[in-house]
Amino acid sequence: MDSFTPNNILVTGGAGFIGSNFIRHLLSSNSDVTITNLDALTYAGSQLGLTSCADNNRYEFAQGSITDSSLVTTILHNKEIDTIVHFAAESHVDRSITGPEAFIDTNIVGTFRLLDAARTVWGDNLASRRFLHVSTDEVYGTLSATDPAFTETTPFAPNSPYAASKASSDLLARSYFHTYDFPVITTNCSNNYGPFQFPEKLIPLMIVNALAGKPLPIYGDGQQVRDWLYVDDHCAAISRAISAGELGSTYNVGGNNEMPNMDIVHSICDLLDELQPRDDTKSYREQIEFVEDRPGHDRRYAVDASRIANELGWTPSESFATGIRKTVDWYLKNSEWLEAIKTEQHRKWLSENYTKRSKPAA
Ligand code: NAD
Ligand code: TYD
Repeated sequence: MDSFTPNNILVTGGAGFIGSNFIRHLLSSNSDVTITNLDALTYAGSQLGLTSCADNNRYEFAQGSITDSSLVTTILHNKEIDTIVHFAAESHVDRSITGPEAFIDTNIVGTFRLLDAARTVWGDNLASRRFLHVSTDEVYGTLSATDPAFTETTPFAPNSPYAASKASSDLLARSYFHTYDFPVITTNCSNNYGPFQFPEKLIPLMIVNALAGKPLPIYGDGQQVRDWLYVDDHCAAISRAISAGELGSTYNVGGNNEMPNMDIVHSICDLLDELQPRDDTKSYREQIEFVEDRPGHDRRYAVDASRIANELGWTPSESFATGIRKTVDWYLKNSEWLEAIKTEQHRKWLSENYTKRSKPAA
């Protein structure tokens, strides 16, 4: 039975891939909640995915960082926030290898500031409050081919700066429950895919490169295994965890769908061959190129999601075959979004680099 009903929700990082899907999911499935979306609009964030919400009087956007305690405090007060769903993060492993500092700032310091602002504003009214911390299965490290899947009690062993920063934020969230009785619930989810994913992650990158006639870069031997979950299923799991999750608990969320990267790329090529064949009628598989492996590349992730299934009644409804077809189809039908997001990212890159270059020497 559900024990909690959110009223006024603060979504952080709601202009990103999963956050924007979550906001659309919530506005269409729940007619009562109000949502404030706090997002810094980094390269990964865009309001282009939220145009369908813009006129909804239950939705409001605030541009700013979760590291800005006074802004967060003002929103918590003014919007009478009772529930925080915390997506905001630097989320790409490759970027964490080349530039880890932003991951420390947002994922660790930002999560700390958010937790602490909420603890201060919420005071003793904790029974009617929830903080849902959205995390990843990457905190558990890597598995061999024969290891059992990650459970909620698998020890943390993060291997990338991204995974380490998320593990740190999970531990901060945990400590706030144990120390302050702060009402935290954490979800650790496997790799998501679906509409509106920024084309730097494996699946959208492969679709976009394939259509542009560019190489499809496979790191190493392409036999690394991930568990893949369609984004709507993740959104449904988060909603279940908010309404029925046990305070202080963590729930693994996964698609029960382990696949090597090479198989993922093959299935994308095969769908594109069917839905939008190349002019020369050759397969998109011709564009596959093996490139240097990612440093410290985790070999295998696998998620045992039986706890959330048994205790909260959540299971994924999409199979990989149905989810990837929907996803490829969405990218084919939304080339305008893709072009717009690439232009927007380019503009942000130019403005950031122009600002840096034009700063006077100290
Ligand atoms: P994303 O990179 O698409 O979006 C992140 C959003 O956070 C962007 O809109 C960005 O502008 C915003 N943001 C970044 N720094 C911020 C800051 N300091 N203040 C406010 N906003 C900021 O990420 P995503 O794939 O949607 O992931 C969302 C969350 O889910 C992350 O916490 C990630 O760790 C977690 N997660 C992602 C996956 C996945 O496969 N994508 C899997 C499991 C867990
Ligand atoms: P990614 O989507 O970056 O997610 P994560 O690293 O968080 O799992 O990558 C998924 C897998 O695909 C991972 O094993 C790295 C691999 N990969 C490639 O082989 N080529 C690419 O261009 C990218 C982006 C990822």
